[in-house]
Amino acid sequence: MSVEMKIKDVARYDGQDVTVKGWLYNKRSSGKLRFLLVRDGTATIQCVVFKGSVSEEVFERATALTQESSLIVTGKVTRDERSSIGYEIQVSHVEVVQIAHEYPITKKEHGVDFLMDHRHLWLRSSKQHALIRIRHEIIRAAREFFDMRDFTLVDAPIFTPNAAEGTSTLFETDYFERKAYLTQSGQLYGEAGAMAFGNIYCFGPTFRAEKSKTRRHLTEFWMIEPEMAYCDLQQDMVVAEEFVTHIVKSVLKNRRPELETLERDISRLEKIDTPFPRLHYDEAVDILKKNGIEFEYGDDFGAADETTISEQFDRPVIVHHYPAEVKAFYMKRDPETPRFALAMDMLAPEGYGEIIGGSQREDDYETLLERVREHNLPEEAFAWYLDLRKYGSVPHAGFGLGIERTVAWIAGIRHIRETIPFPRTMTRLYP
Ligand code: 4AD
Ligand code: MG
Repeated sequence: MSVEMKIKDVARYDGQDVTVKGWLYNKRSSGKLRFLLVRDGTATIQCVVFKGSVSEEVFERATALTQESSLIVTGKVTRDERSSIGYEIQVSHVEVVQIAHEYPITKKEHGVDFLMDHRHLWLRSSKQHALIRIRHEIIRAAREFFDMRDFTLVDAPIFTPNAAEGTSTLFETDYFERKAYLTQSGQLYGEAGAMAFGNIYCFGPTFRAEKSKTRRHLTEFWMIEPEMAYCDLQQDMVVAEEFVTHIVKSVLKNRRPELETLERDISRLEKIDTPFPRLHYDEAVDILKKNGIEFEYGDDFGAADETTISEQFDRPVIVHHYPAEVKAFYMKRDPETPRFALAMDMLAPEGYGEIIGGSQREDDYETLLERVREHNLPEEAFAWYLDLRKYGSVPHAGFGLGIERTVAWIAGIRHIRETIPFPRTMTRLYP
């Protein structure tokens, strides 16, 4: 009798007869031997079929197997020092579930467009597999961080009547003879949650009609957004740095083999610890000037500027006090220097750009109403949001971390499109 095994657990089955259900990743033949590299989603293992140990029929079956055919293998687990997993399987039986014909992704080099068109299959390759598992760990650790601190999960809707992050990137959709917009951020609803529960977070997909084709932008991305009542900008920054540190340490602890598959320079990640450097906007501008970069004082930073700023440090850097004009309508201004918003962005090291955007929120009713008007936002759609400043308004703050940019940085992947199972960009809606 054999027991069903997941390949990642192989060490527990040394010397035993096991069954593995999976797919053929690769195959080599040599005389009376067939070497089947089998994957089951948890790992891959070499399964050795020796002509003398199986029936003729089984040997023929093993010979005819093609890449990505589905199969069930039975055999004995034996130690193998040369294997990365430490073991192989001496096969006694092979059952073919389905023969795959001409799997399109082969050993040869494929272009990114071809691979993206076959994203539904590309996910099976070792690099993509590693990336998605790192993404999973980042999301798990992110939720764990807030759960451990008693934040309540308060989800925000996806159909919304109003913009949160500027009207230029809104996706509009028909909503029973009305217009609705896909959410750009759950924050405004998170603020309602914070007034009800104190500390909350929301987590979900967000949408922006980004017309830029950069390696940092998707039209659909996932964001985790904490919002805290009785919290100011300084406290917000402390939570943000502890949060990101927790995520990095969790990936280092739980996804090291995947980081190795991706050939990530782990020493860079091991340097990440609190406190993160903090820069006033003016100090960040000075860095640009010192590096001979042309920059118009008062502008927001572009991707190249962010890279120059972040290159000065070996851990993420927090830039705060941006000019209010370049930031969102809901941000509170510094009472002492009102031309600055109580805003902060966290820039990842190694040129990965902004991973967090956050701020202390405007909590005064009259001031917020004025901002809504200045930004030509529809007052009716924001009535509920203004209500929060009428009924027990308190200082509050929060931020949003973009999951995909965080995955790109931690995994060391240049382009954001590989950090999500099925990316959506201006030019990609398939598969
Ligand atoms: O800086 P943003 O626009 O901030 C907000 O949406 C706030 N309402 C969040 C809050 O305070 N609750 O976006 C936050 C993060 C960015 O730092 C970035 O990581 C990510 O979301 N992001 C994107 N990721 C991929 N593609 C895009 N088009 C993105 N736009 C923003
Ligand atoms: Mg931002």
